[in-house]
Amino acid sequence: MNILVLNGPNLSTLGRREPEVYGTKTLADLESLLTGRAKELGVQLRFRQSNHEGQLIDWIETEPSDAIIINPGALSHYSLVLADALRGSGKPVVEVHISNVFRREPERHRMVTAAAAKGVISGLGFDGYMAALDYLARI
Ligand code: DQA
Repeated sequence: MNILVLNGPNLSTLGRREPEVYGTKTLADLESLLTGRAKELGVQLRFRQSNHEGQLIDWIETEPSDAIIINPGALSHYSLVLADALRGSGKPVVEVHISNVFRREPERHRMVTAAAAKGVISGLGFDGYMAALDYLARI
């Protein structure tokens, strides 16, 4: 099984970006954590991060995978094109947010891409990605 792990805008700066919200661990830390778990599960992971909406859509359309884990960053709150791409992939998608967006500003409560996902995990930090991986490996 192949899972595409997509991280959207500003997730490249994890570790130094608002550490009180997102913690002090980096994107590389997240990827190595997931790689360890994927080995145990016998799953292949493909990691991609971009600050550009169109690039994320290109990967959704072209990267071979059976399922997708995505943290769209702020695109989650307004990107209909990204939602369309996720829906159009026909693959099981789990959307992850490191922070609990529902405890934050009201403009973050609108979840446009979440409507294209099978499930959404918000507020569990990196554990949310791990839970998404375990779930997708099982189904
Ligand atoms: C985020 C939450 C978004 O509202 C924010 O724009 C991000 C990160 C999260 O992982 O908690 O960039 O997706």
